[in-house]
Amino acid sequence: MDTSLINQLELMALEIAHAAGDLLVDQRPSVMTVDTKTSETDVVTAMDKAAEAFIIEKIKAQRPNDLFIGEEGTVNNSDNPTNVKWIVDPIDGTVNYLHKHPIWSVSIGVKVDEITQVGVVHAPLLGETYLAIKNQGAYLINKNGRERVQITRNTTLSHTLVATGFSYESAKRKKHGQVIAEISDQVRDFRRDGSAAIDLCMVGLGRVDAYFETGLHPWDYTAGALFVEEAGGKTGGLAGKPLSSDLAIASNQGVFEEFSNLIRTCHKKFY
Ligand code: IPD
Ligand code: CA
Repeated sequence: MDTSLINQLELMALEIAHAAGDLLVDQRPSVMTVDTKTSETDVVTAMDKAAEAFIIEKIKAQRPNDLFIGEEGTVNNSDNPTNVKWIVDPIDGTVNYLHKHPIWSVSIGVKVDEITQVGVVHAPLLGETYLAIKNQGAYLINKNGRERVQITRNTTLSHTLVATGFSYESAKRKKHGQVIAEISDQVRDFRRDGSAAIDLCMVGLGRVDAYFETGLHPWDYTAGALFVEEAGGKTGGLAGKPLSSDLAIASNQGVFEEFSNLIRTCHKKFY
């Protein structure tokens, strides 16, 4: 792998995520314009669109022929594309952003030849940025500097703290509720923070042991999945498959097999 390219992508992703975070904090209007997407609960604010346009403009200024996919629908079909693809969620946790709840992030994953090489999840109101570089580790960046992080060492399912999230589709929400009820007496507890990208990073940071969700998109999980893997954890989807919209699972090494089997069994039963 071309290390100078990876260095450039890392620096760009960090700088652009921070600049977008500043924009989202500084220019947050007191009255927000809100539209809905797939359902009444799936909201998009003018700030999601503004932040995505800002991020794309910054990428294009430095690397005009890269491809990108953004949550708000921007796809750049360059005539002469490079092998670099940016997967951008301008605000992961839009509902939290709308409600002034501090857990939301700017999530940027960068693929080279379809393999994620860099992941940045920036949480401005938490004062934290989560950075992963393929084969180089996962890092927490905050006011104290940059620190390499590791998943938990827990190996016991009943001690497993599980993060999760609910799809915007009401039918899927109900099924997800059934899965949660089914496993509720087998794990320690659940957390629902409201940003899938942050949830995944919480696994890598060792603040929770595991995570699962149904109905995600690549912009929700690309950066965070690399963070889990680089922190020593595992990710997966349906049996034998990688993370996908059907199912996203992440956990530390110690409980992955048991946890993922449990979630896959419940998924089969209820979906
Ligand atoms: C959502 C958040 C939420 C998850 C949803 C996502 P958005 O992303 O990550 O935690 O439960 O599935 O769609 O819409 O805020 O970018
Ligand atoms: Ca998202």
